[in-house]
Amino acid sequence: MDRAIVVDHLTKNFEVNVKKPGLTGSVLSLIKPEKKIVRALKNISFSVQPGELVGFIGPNGAGKTTTLKVLSGLLYPTNGFIQVLNYDPWERKEEFLKKISLVMGQKRQLWWDLPAIESFELYKEIYELPQHEYAKNLEELVDLLEVRKILNIQVRKLSLGQRMRLELIATLLHKPEILFLDEPTIGLDVVAQQKIRDFLYNYNRKYNSTILLTSHNMDDVVNLARRVIVIDQGKIIFDGILDNLVSQFAKEKIIKVSLSSEENIKEIGKIGKVKKISYPLVILSVPRQTVAVAAAELLQNFPVEDLTIEETPIEEVIRTLFKGSIKNKK
Ligand SMILES: Nc1ncnc2c1ncn2[C@@H]1O[C@H](COP(=O)(O)OP(=O)(O)O)[C@@H](O)[C@H]1O
Ligand SMILES: [Mg+2]
Repeated sequence: MDRAIVVDHLTKNFEVNVKKPGLTGSVLSLIKPEKKIVRALKNISFSVQPGELVGFIGPNGAGKTTTLKVLSGLLYPTNGFIQVLNYDPWERKEEFLKKISLVMGQKRQLWWDLPAIESFELYKEIYELPQHEYAKNLEELVDLLEVRKILNIQVRKLSLGQRMRLELIATLLHKPEILFLDEPTIGLDVVAQQKIRDFLYNYNRKYNSTILLTSHNMDDVVNLARRVIVIDQGKIIFDGILDNLVSQFAKEKIIKVSLSSEENIKEIGKIGKVKKISYPLVILSVPRQTVAVAAAELLQNFPVEDLTIEETPIEEVIRTLFKGSIKNKK
């Protein structure tokens, strides 16, 4: 198998009923329902190799969850071709379902009144796992996620972070080849987020599983994925190495200078956009094309002790991207 996931010109529309306000509206929509088409995915294409960990990012409503649902067979595509591990996902064949997992940050797979270990036993039955395989997988996951002490506690008594780690076990017990993760760190505190990230990183390395992870949290993506796909308003606006996203979309670079005196410091704004002055440090933002010229001018005309040129931070680039200012560049 060459590619684990193939998405080719995928379109997904939702038909929704529009109701006019008030009682008359309710009656009217019964007699003559008015439909509206929501175009959630507009002709998107990408593919993922086995073992890749890809970040799928975009603002709210961009189409991330819809994509994962189509890929895991919960939604039927309106148009286009998709294949996951050479299966047609919407057929939801048992064989296929045993090879994938969809984890939703906001959905729960554990029974809250039971200790997690009892839910795991049920999943063992659902996935028809042989006892030795179940025991081995569970043991590994419990170690990796450090949850041994909480396995026997009623799930509702645990913190969100603890619950999320147990949810992950429930979805990984059958060792899926592909893992679809929808906002796995949503609502977690920073420490819990980091634990989940470390786990996913190690899991991907250890088992060479294919992971597609959606998030609107940039930290997830920066820390985990080398490749990102950026989606906005149902269209893919970038697909590639994270670093290239910065060079493709960031129009400016950052120059940081350290000065040995405050002489001329007010003039420094002529060289570039001043982002911060806090003597001896000055931070400027300058157009990518003229960064060398700007650096030379600084060295010539100011008492520079130290100078570094940096890329615009990725978070900032994405923020501008989502604001739409450079969206139509591609
Ligand atoms: N079941 C549905 N019925 C109607 N519209 C939907 C449905 N699910 C999602 N949408 C719409 O499709 C678009 C994409 O939603 P979604 O995939 O959930 O975005 P994201 O996960 O990136 O926040 C949004 O405009 C959303 O309102
Ligand atoms: Mg979503």
